[in-house]
Amino acid sequence: MEQISWTDDLRTGNALIDGDHRKLVGLVNALCAAMAQAPANDGMSAAMNDLIVYSKEHFGREETEMKRIQYVASLAHASEHAKLIKQAVELKSMLDAGGMINVVAVSGFLCEWLRHHILTADKKLAIALKNPTPRG
Ligand SMILES: [Fe+2]
Repeated sequence: MEQISWTDDLRTGNALIDGDHRKLVGLVNALCAAMAQAPANDGMSAAMNDLIVYSKEHFGREETEMKRIQYVASLAHASEHAKLIKQAVELKSMLDAGGMINVVAVSGFLCEWLRHHILTADKKLAIALKNPTPRG
């Protein structure tokens, strides 16, 4: 089962965002560990729920910061957040309904999504937060 490591390349340099991301990495790994126990999936739904709850909080903090600096890419960035939440909620619904999910594909998807989102969207946001463009 895929896991994600907290490596230096994932640091954005923004303490608030990096702290949240470390916790997100832990939650994704906890979910992947629970998925490794499939099909005994009691722990999977709870771990998915923890990830959804914390992701919403974290995405909310990033989106508040985007609003504060009137970030130009805020709509595209927030839409990546919304899509991830939607997919995670759908997966949790499937689990809660007793459905089967492809745990290898889901763990790969979540690890890749998080790495890609941090390395692209979040790093750009951290740069903008450091150097907000003055607006008249
Ligand atoms: Fe983000």
